[in-house]
Amino acid sequence: MKIHAYEKLWLVAALLLIVGFIATITYGSVGLGIAMLDDSEETIEPKELNDDERFGEPRVEQVGENEYEAYVVAQTFIFQPDPIEVPANSEVTFYVTSRDVIHGFAVPGTNINAMVIPGEVSKMTVEFDEPDEYGIVCNEYCGDFHHTMEGQLNVVP
Ligand code: CUA
Repeated sequence: MKIHAYEKLWLVAALLLIVGFIATITYGSVGLGIAMLDDSEETIEPKELNDDERFGEPRVEQVGENEYEAYVVAQTFIFQPDPIEVPANSEVTFYVTSRDVIHGFAVPGTNINAMVIPGEVSKMTVEFDEPDEYGIVCNEYCGDFHHTMEGQLNVVP
């Protein structure tokens, strides 16, 4: 059987298309897998926060040239550390947990807005370009002084 050169070309094109589809699907699921891993909640015992390597001493730590990690504890009715200070032109990953009840960790003017659940660690990565000052608010009702629960986030030059 003889296949015309023109038909051969179409066969190859169709095959490439199929390979492309499969690659897209495979790549897509790999991406999804990573996202799901990233979303999975890390657990932590609220009673043991004081002995925890990160949350025993809430702080901001430099982990790369322009990379920082902030370990933040929310509790009635404060955030620790306060203020949180990070340098401009940095990428900061926040790890936030609660010592007692459910709190919020929201920074109006940024896309930081997380629920902070005792026993779990909320993680979010944010880039800060310009020096600025932000307020941190708790947006989950957590008791009588919920409305006073505020913190400060300073992006310093
Ligand atoms: Cu903490 Cu509302």
